[in-house]
Amino acid sequence: MNVNTGSGEIPGLLQVTWPIIQAPVAGISTPSIEIAAGGIMDGAGLASVLRLGAVAAQLGTAFLATDKSAADEGYRRALLSDAANHTMMTRAISSRPARCLANRFTSFGAHVDSRDIPPYPIAYAAGKALHAAAMAAGESGYGAQWAGQGASLLRPMSTEKLMSTLIGELSKT
Ligand SMILES: Cc1cc2nc3c(=O)[nH]c(=O)nc-3n(C[C@H](O)[C@H](O)[C@H](O)COP(=O)(O)O)c2cc1C
Repeated sequence: MNVNTGSGEIPGLLQVTWPIIQAPVAGISTPSIEIAAGGIMDGAGLASVLRLGAVAAQLGTAFLATDKSAADEGYRRALLSDAANHTMMTRAISSRPARCLANRFTSFGAHVDSRDIPPYPIAYAAGKALHAAAMAAGESGYGAQWAGQGASLLRPMSTEKLMSTLIGELSKT
């Protein structure tokens, strides 16, 4: 695929050289540009959505274990463990449905009636307090460990290396 779009439509619409955008990921990194995507973890996935007509792809989970991610050690360990094969939707963490790694928080949430969860941001603030208390006791499993369905394909490397890897993979398609 020809991705050298220096004078093509992508720079015109989004002012970027490469058709890759790091998704807004609360608590980790929040860029100002948004478009929609999901589950894209490598150059092949990127090429697929471009072929289907997207002008660029938004990747969130793929960047979680990079050096510029604010994910803490427990979150990173969980992302690189079997937990990445077990993402799930939960309201327990913020009161809004979102996908995350299955962990102690989601296990706890599985036994809570959704009508008993206070609205956002109260639930989210309470969850952060629970995580802080658990961390103080050496337990990282109550974190808001958000992750998409491609989490098991995550590659831990520097942000620069991930970008060059994605561009290299995309260029070969
Ligand atoms: C750590 C994390 C935090 C996120 N926070 C938000 C958020 O606050 N609001 C939102 O609309 N989406 C949020 N998302 C969803 C991302 O924008 C979503 O991941 C994006 O569509 C890219 O999908 P992908 O993670 O499968 O690449 C979050 C995702 C992650 C991984």
